[in-house]
Amino acid sequence: MPVQLSYNSPLAEYKFSNSTLRGTVCQLLAKYNLEDHAVSVVLMDDAGITGFNEQYRHRQGATNVLSFPFSEAEESNQLPVQELGDILISVETAAREAEKERKTIQTRLIELIIHGFLHLLGHDHERSEAEAWEMWDLEKQLFKKIIKIKTITPPRSTTMTHLAINVDHVATIREARGTLEPDPVFAAGVCELAGASGIVVHLREDRRHIQDRDVKLLRETVKTKLNLEMATSKEIIKIALKLKPDMVTLVPEKRQELTTEGGLDIISNEKKIRKTIKKMAAAGIPVSLFIDPDAEQIEAAVDVGATFVELHTGRYCDAPVEKERDREFLLIERSAELAYDSGLRVNAGHGLDYFNTARVARLETIEELSIGHAVMARAIFVGLDQAVREMMDVILTA
Ligand code: PXP
Repeated sequence: MPVQLSYNSPLAEYKFSNSTLRGTVCQLLAKYNLEDHAVSVVLMDDAGITGFNEQYRHRQGATNVLSFPFSEAEESNQLPVQELGDILISVETAAREAEKERKTIQTRLIELIIHGFLHLLGHDHERSEAEAWEMWDLEKQLFKKIIKIKTITPPRSTTMTHLAINVDHVATIREARGTLEPDPVFAAGVCELAGASGIVVHLREDRRHIQDRDVKLLRETVKTKLNLEMATSKEIIKIALKLKPDMVTLVPEKRQELTTEGGLDIISNEKKIRKTIKKMAAAGIPVSLFIDPDAEQIEAAVDVGATFVELHTGRYCDAPVEKERDREFLLIERSAELAYDSGLRVNAGHGLDYFNTARVARLETIEELSIGHAVMARAIFVGLDQAVREMMDVILTA
């Protein structure tokens, strides 16, 4: 089932999944028993589509989608694969529409592909009102079949991957001496000034690094976004509900561990997690679940009503040989796509450093990376400001 997806302009700042778009066309071809036909989807910017709109439809300005069916008169019937036609989409217009309609750019692109595909089949909403309604009904039905999700898709960022800095390690150094320095609250300010999009702290039950005083002050001072990592313990839930961070990330917590060792098992802790999400939702706090890149956990995250998942990148980062690293990366890539397509917002983190981050930052479905250790380790030698800027560079150039 040949589906060609191409670009006629760089659209790097927009986040969507090429394979999902390609998959949408494949599903449409299969639905109409047209598996032996080829469709070409060309993604472009407003300037690109304006040219086609003016040349072929004699209309001024940009539009969202244009379809060019191959006419029967053309020699496509003699080709081994019959061409159904071309669908041209302006990603810039799609992004604007997505923002206005509070949906993801990916969802909007799927809608436009369905719309363009129906035009290739000969449907035309401009011929009559009856045909317009018929086409609209078909679009809705096809969309429902292709996007098999129960949740309402949250609005998503269409810009570059964000960097959130975990400042727990600053508090670890302070606690090692039992003094007041270095202060994680100051560190958070430096990270924000260097360009970080968020600050992450883990208020552990044993208070081994971040203290109650830190989270209180951070709530007052963080200008970007405060993400509170926490376990589903009664005491910490109470603090979070009072503090109202911009989001919370639920993580498993063991007293003996050096750092968070693995993802949450949502399936075995479903009741507790669902209850915590409900409480947070009532207080207007979105919840992220830190999970291993695992399809069952993603399904469970949708089921319990999480807004985000944070995919655990630890196994990818710690893999000792390339083959294993590639296998772990593939798991992250597939899980991120699955989570994104299921309506979740997707973050990732743990173990990311200046060498292994670019590959993850390149994934179109991941919105934010949460990084602590590598940045703090480098900060000892080059300063925190410089260390954050260098990590931003890694993400930007990715
Ligand atoms: N995400 C979560 C859920 C974590 O627990 C941690 C570690 O505190 C991180 C990200 C950051 O990991 P690292 O310090 O290895 O960058």
